[in-house]
Amino acid sequence: MRKTRSIHLIVAASATMVMAAGMAAIVSTPANAATTLGAAAAESGRYFGAATNSFMLNRQPHATVLNREFNSIVAENEMKWYHTEPNQNQFNFTAGDQLIAHARARGMTVRGHTLVWHAQQPAWAQNLSGTALRNAMINHINRVAGHWRGQIHSWDVVNEAFADGSGGGRRDSNLQRTGNDWIEVAFRTARAADPSAKLCYNDYNTDGVNAKSTGIYNMVRDFKARGVPIDCVGLQSHLGTTLDPTYQQNIQRFADLGVDVQITELDIMQGSNQANMYGQVTRACLAVARCTGITVWGVLDPDSWRTGANPLLFDGNGNKKPAYDAVLNALNAGGNNPPPTTAPPTTGPPPITTPPPSGGGCSASVSLNSWNGGFVATVRVTAGSSAINGWRVRLTVPSGATVTGAWNANRSGNTGAVDFTNVDYNGRVAAGQSTEFGFQATGNGSIPAPSCTAS
Ligand code: G3I
Repeated sequence: MRKTRSIHLIVAASATMVMAAGMAAIVSTPANAATTLGAAAAESGRYFGAATNSFMLNRQPHATVLNREFNSIVAENEMKWYHTEPNQNQFNFTAGDQLIAHARARGMTVRGHTLVWHAQQPAWAQNLSGTALRNAMINHINRVAGHWRGQIHSWDVVNEAFADGSGGGRRDSNLQRTGNDWIEVAFRTARAADPSAKLCYNDYNTDGVNAKSTGIYNMVRDFKARGVPIDCVGLQSHLGTTLDPTYQQNIQRFADLGVDVQITELDIMQGSNQANMYGQVTRACLAVARCTGITVWGVLDPDSWRTGANPLLFDGNGNKKPAYDAVLNALNAGGNNPPPTTAPPTTGPPPITTPPPSGGGCSASVSLNSWNGGFVATVRVTAGSSAINGWRVRLTVPSGATVTGAWNANRSGNTGAVDFTNVDYNGRVAAGQSTEFGFQATGNGSIPAPSCTAS
């Protein structure tokens, strides 16, 4: 694995070191305290996870430590765009499926990382722009979040879209150049594709109150005010040798907006302050009820992307480091329990269905995820008692509405009665089975029951 040292470290005022050292009090641990990170976090209703890769799942001592200590995992790389859609509309879910199967067999939850990011895009996407890129993004979210629908605890829907520095604005990227609304379109699309996943915005250098985290704070506040679906903010927390003194305050201000906060990629440079900082970060999360979990960005030091920094909780032999003890003690000391988990709301009215055909043929239903000025429609095509080899769905979009893009279907027309036909990979549907396609439109209103014709 190529590793890069171009990381994003926040080095806060060293004056805090003196105070921090004084705070590293010895915690007395009760005899019945939990003995693993996952179990200790679960006592306050949280998870403690690690990033891993499918090819490491049986590698020792990684496997023993991963399976023993953590109750959540995230794909370090294998759910990224370049991995899941290496060629346009050709999807590779193998590694992600393996990670999910591994987690489910052990009662671990899975974080999804990441649906849309300016980096690690496949070459074909890097070469797109404008409407073509926007539609490719929507299709990607639909297919990937749809494939793992119901199996992802939280998705990093959008990763690292804000710029570093003092401005607090967006980062320039091919996605940003498709229009400033690309982030909210991504979130609305993800909600429709997997209504039970928590939808997170994830970024780095946001580990304190600063211009960048304030830019994100303002976006989240705006999304909440306008009903754009967002459930959580991920603070990556790739940290150096001191912790920003406003770390907990920053977590709290996001929580106060009504979103969960997750520490998503924690790693801390090895040094005299490493264990203390791991304890500080853990305690800060535990102090905020809506800080619902912590993920470390790897298991064993030699596998970290930060070559030579030894920023994790275990050495190369799987031995627990002092940082591990600091985290476990902090978790066992307890904190403010998160509010009971409620599934994110599924927006939009229930599907409008046409009765299933009694013989052959097909039926179609549509569900809408609407906002003021637009909507994403998910259309389900169901074969009758015989398999079909192709389908055409006709539906009438509301007066004044215009279809701006579709995925998993060919489209004819964009206003009034619009026809959608299967693409090459979803025309054949077995008897009683379904396939889905979708489209995005500007405008608002309801859609009457669509008609479906089999071929
Ligand atoms: O898979 C290819 C392999 O086929 C090829 O031979 C090899 C040659 O370089 O590269 C391999 O891809 C590498 C990939 O990791 C998988 O190992 C990439 O070069 C390498 O750049 C990539 O690095 C990852 C990096 O994200 C970029 O995607 C790191 O492992 C991963 O830890 C890091 O994680 C990011 C988060 O996603 C977002 N936040 C920051 C964090 C650290 O950069």
